[in-house]
Amino acid sequence: MTQQAEQHEQHRASGTDGTRDRRPARGKPFLYVVVCAAGVAADVSKLITSAQERDWEVGVIATPLAMNGFFDPAAVEALTGRPIRSAWRTPGEPRPFPAPDAVVVAPATFNTVNKWAAGIADTLALGTLCEAAGLGVPIAVLPCVAEALAAHPAYRDSLIRLRGMGVRIGEPYAGEADPHGGRPEFGWERALDLLGPPPAAGT
Ligand SMILES: Cc1cc2nc3c(=O)[nH]c(=O)nc-3n(C[C@H](O)[C@H](O)[C@H](O)COP(=O)(O)O)c2cc1C
Repeated sequence: MTQQAEQHEQHRASGTDGTRDRRPARGKPFLYVVVCAAGVAADVSKLITSAQERDWEVGVIATPLAMNGFFDPAAVEALTGRPIRSAWRTPGEPRPFPAPDAVVVAPATFNTVNKWAAGIADTLALGTLCEAAGLGVPIAVLPCVAEALAAHPAYRDSLIRLRGMGVRIGEPYAGEADPHGGRPEFGWERALDLLGPPPAAGT
């Protein structure tokens, strides 16, 4: 077992914040879906449904701005059966989600990608991503970043840095409308393909 895998195992057993992993002993593998404030987030339920079909249990962590009208929180909570997390819990509160077996960031914004690569943890979403990478939890990212922003050297450096951390990054998606007003598909399932099959339940 690698050092990162050992850390991940310890993390699952004890929780980084001193509370125990609340995943039932033989529960399904738990996937965190981190949602950022991009227009395509309106369709995040497609990702959640696909993940559930592949036998992941899903909990959603949204950036505070993503909670500001970018998707339908009630629909997402109904799908996952859990509250969406966006803010840090208070010190006395139990951890609302089990530790993650894997994390997907979709859509990933220019802002969140750059802050994550820089080690900034000023939202729960960013803190979770920074920590998950350090623990060796598999992470897949589907960026949704316009070409003009993607050309910024800081963004290019961020992607190189994240790849160097072992983060799996999907193809560029600019989200720009074609001449007929249509948009290409975001390709939500790609995030799950990048992760591969979930670990067997109870392992
Ligand atoms: C309607 C709308 C759509 C947006 N779409 C995108 C997008 O596709 N990609 C992106 O990087 N930023 C997009 N933004 C800008 C982000 O919301 C903004 O950079 C924000 O700070 C991102 O915050 P977050 O990374 O914490 O979610 C959009 C903003 C609005 C108002």
